[in-house]
Amino acid sequence: MSCRKLKRTGLSSNILEKLIRHNISTCKDLLSCSQLEVVKILSSGPATADEVFTKCSQSCSPRPITAYDLWKNRCEANDGFFATSLKDLDVVLHGGLPKGTISEIAGPSGCGKTQFSIMLSLLVTMPKSHGGLDGSVMYIDTEGAFSAERLVEMATNKFPDYFHDNSTTMSELTDRVHVNVIQTCNQLLERLKNLEEDIISKKIKLIVIDSIASLVRKEFSTTLGRNLTDRTNLLVQEAAILKYLAEVFSIPIVVTNQITTRFGNDNIQDEQTSSSGLEDESGYVTAALGNTWSHSVNTRLLLQYLTPVTRQVMVAKSPVAPFTTFTYTIESAGIIQQDGGAGHYEGTDPGKQQIKVRSALPFQVSQSSSLLS
Ligand SMILES: Nc1ncnc2c1ncn2[C@@H]1O[C@H](COP(=O)(O)OP(=O)(O)OP(=O)(O)O)[C@@H](O)[C@H]1O
Ligand SMILES: [Mg+2]
Repeated sequence: MSCRKLKRTGLSSNILEKLIRHNISTCKDLLSCSQLEVVKILSSGPATADEVFTKCSQSCSPRPITAYDLWKNRCEANDGFFATSLKDLDVVLHGGLPKGTISEIAGPSGCGKTQFSIMLSLLVTMPKSHGGLDGSVMYIDTEGAFSAERLVEMATNKFPDYFHDNSTTMSELTDRVHVNVIQTCNQLLERLKNLEEDIISKKIKLIVIDSIASLVRKEFSTTLGRNLTDRTNLLVQEAAILKYLAEVFSIPIVVTNQITTRFGNDNIQDEQTSSSGLEDESGYVTAALGNTWSHSVNTRLLLQYLTPVTRQVMVAKSPVAPFTTFTYTIESAGIIQQDGGAGHYEGTDPGKQQIKVRSALPFQVSQSSSLLS
């Protein structure tokens, strides 16, 4: 909440102008100043500075709300979730990915994280009658993996009637997907800090970051202690901004994440850097970026291969759903859930599945007999 822009706190334009001129644009910036500094900047007395502090603190402190009010609002609006179009997954998640929170799609390379993200982008632009949110999406692409052709292919195959011979609807769709290619961690942080205006002006109803891990893993080494601290600080900042945006605008935020192989002694080894091909049996995969990031994510979907063709999505973290698995395939229409119903994972930590990583194969075999009931 401290990321809230001062513009949204109700301060007068005269005061705002003076603060912004001194690079004080968020509640956090202001609340980090002393009373004396603010007095000087505003050329005012201490009473005015105190008023500004109070207004700012009130604006960025979350107000308590009862569970009854929350429940009533959800029931009345029937609007708290963003349906993924995977029917059973949506049922388990009480309607889909929760708005106002961060959802993560994690999994090995080629498993469908980008495909899932493109499909969600398509769904957001669809009218409510077709299960969409009738809005726009901000797709932050850190891997250069977004494909407009794939978006159009999914659209025409998933909603053939809606897009049949209608180039206008297709232009409207593609116009609503705003793609931002980002190449460094600093660029990403700056972009996130400035997203608020775009969310309002472009009517953004979904933010996708594909992926949150690639830049961080490129720029920070986990073997150097100092780097690890910097990496954690960066992720904490990013998570705080994302949480703020999700909450204030009540939109879902979807980030994709890579996986890492963790061994019994808790050494972290990147999936890509493992050299032996066949990993130690005691290794397990878990989403990358460590515990701090993990706690920032509200809902985690873990993807993995079952066979070269079929994949599995597991609800690996959710405030409303148990660990549940579904099988899916990737087709021209996007991510398609397969029949077979839900499987249940009985363990306490789905991140600790036994896994064999065969880098010599074009796919990774990730199976645990305990995973599917
Ligand atoms: N048009 C299509 N029809 C069917 N399957 C497709 C199509 N396009 C891509 N795929 C499948 O999607 C897979 C790639 O998925 P995706 O790019 O989402 O992986 P990812 O999890 O994002 O991987 P990475 O971590 O490397 O970014 C391909 O291996 C292919 O199996
Ligand atoms: Mg990808």
